[in-house]
This record gives sequence, C-alpha cells and structure tokens, in this order.
Amino acid sequence: MSEKAENTRDAQRPGEDEKSWKERVAVNQTLDKITNKLMVFSGKGGVGKSTVAANLAVSLAQSGQRVGLLDIDFHGPSIPKLLGVTDKRMDITEDNTALPVIGPSGVKIVSIGFLLPDLDQATIWRGPLKMGVFKQLLGQTEWGELDWLIIDSPPGTGDEPLSVAQTIVGTKGLLVTTPQQIATDDVRRSIGFARKLGMELVGMIENMSGMVCPHCGERIDVFKGGGGKAMAAEVGVRFLGRVPLDPAAVEAGDDGRPVVAAMPDSPTGKALLEAFGPIITSA
Ligand SMILES: Nc1ncnc2c1ncn2[C@@H]1O[C@H](COP(=O)(O)OP(=O)(O)O)[C@@H](O)[C@H]1O
Ligand SMILES: [Mg+2]
Ligand SMILES: [Zn+2]
Repeated sequence: MSEKAENTRDAQRPGEDEKSWKERVAVNQTLDKITNKLMVFSGKGGVGKSTVAANLAVSLAQSGQRVGLLDIDFHGPSIPKLLGVTDKRMDITEDNTALPVIGPSGVKIVSIGFLLPDLDQATIWRGPLKMGVFKQLLGQTEWGELDWLIIDSPPGTGDEPLSVAQTIVGTKGLLVTTPQQIATDDVRRSIGFARKLGMELVGMIENMSGMVCPHCGERIDVFKGGGGKAMAAEVGVRFLGRVPLDPAAVEAGDDGRPVVAAMPDSPTGKALLEAFGPIITSA
C-alpha cells in the first residue's frame, strides 16, 4: 500500500470521534498481519457452525498453518467447550492487550466465552456494548502473524453478523447449512446477505446430511441426498460437501476433541476433511 493511501486510511475521518478512530486503526493494524480471514456463518443457529469453525481451524493448523479462531457468537460462545479449553482464560498484558488461549494443534483462541464468569450463563448484551467488546477483542489481541483467522459469527443475517463482516475488511465467507434449511428459502437469504456485503464465498457445507449408524459405523442416507449440491449450483456457490450426523462426533465435541483430530477416519471426520480440502490448499 502506498504511504498516501495508508495515511488516508489511518487518518481521523470527518465526523469520527476519537475513540472510534483509535478502535478502527487498531483493528486495521491487527488485520494487516493476517493473510486470510474467513467468517463461518449460517442462516440459523444449531446447524453446526461452531463445529465447522473449530474443526476447520484445527485442520488448517494440522496442515502446518498459523491459525487464530475468534468466537464472536454472543448468543452461545461454544468454541472453548468444543476445543476443551473452558478452564482457561486469556491473559491481559500491562498495555491492555489480550493474549489468546492456545488450543489443540496450537490454534490461538479468543472467545467471548472467556469474558463471562460462567460459560453456560446466558448473558444479556446490549447492542452497542456487543460492538464495543467485539472491536476490542479484534483490535487489542496479540494474534501475531497469522495465515488464517477463522471467525465463528453470530447466527442469522441480521445486524450483528453484518457489522462483524463490515468491520473485518476483506473477510470471506463459508456458509454452513442443513438439509432442512435447504428445503426453505433460508439459504437464498444467506447468499443474499453475503452478496449485499460484497463478501466472497469460499463455499457451502451441508451438515447433518445423512447419519452414521451407531452400530456399524457406516453412513446412512436418511433422505435422498443432492439437495444442497443442486441449490449451490443454482445460486452459483461452490459446494464443498455433505457431512453426516455422527452421535460419536457429539461425544468427541463434548470432550473438547474435534472430530478431525479425534476420529479423522470416521465418515464425519473424512467428510469434514474433504470439504475443507479446497480451503486448506487455497492459501
Ligand atoms: N455432523 C455432526 N454430527 C453430530 N453432531 C453434530 C454435527 N454437527 C454439529 N453437531 C452437534 O450439533 C449441536 C449444534 O452444533 P453447533 O456447532 O454448536 O451449531 P451452531 O454453532 O450452528 O449453533 C452440537 O451439539 C454439535 O455437537
Ligand atoms: Mg455456535
Ligand atoms: Zn449399521
């Protein structure tokens, strides 16, 4: 970037108060040291967004890349549980910078959950407070140099994921959905959200698609598959794959062990790794 452009970018803008200006500059400086930013998003909660985000972060780290995972889901910060670090807290340095918690495979984790006294506690956040905390977490974290920052965003296509995407300049999106959602117009709404933002999509994952038999471990297709692939083609988004529901994967998640690390050869582990393939090799 030319010196002039940088000066313009970092200068106080007309009408911008001092605090917002400093926050914006801090966020930009942090983001400059991160090569790829990827926001995992979904139209609804409970579709496996956090599961995908946690497994993707660990898969990238296992492939030798430097990875940060930012859990900004105020409604249910579940990353600490999924990665087995609920008992840890971020250290804060003297100059008020947060140091991420180091998780499996060296993934650097920053979660809104680390700020709550009780991770399961339902906390009521006011809108402006949320954005303030989010910008601080983003701008005042010592991520160091990263190849990837994976962001577990709030669900839906409302104001919150919108401001997250707008603040994290240049972030790409990864859409997680389920066969149920594909049957509604939820996916179209999510794609519309990304397009409106000018957010490039790396692809779409259909989660909880079929299941793994608890008796023999084989994959069972409960419904006739193909809905997600057809929908992706229709809306012009790369289809990354179908990931089956696996009761054993829930247990692994409950133990803080992501499937790609605990059971990479299980149908769900394999499906996730296969879906992540194009992302892992894209950097
Ligand atoms: N492929 C899967 N197989 C089995 N359980 C899954 C799978 N994907 C997600 N889950 C489980 O479903 C629940 C919701 O997943 P989560 O990732 O927390 O969703 P979200 O972040 O979208 O709310 C969790 O209990 C998780 O362990
Ligand atoms: Mg979640
Ligand atoms: Zn069986």
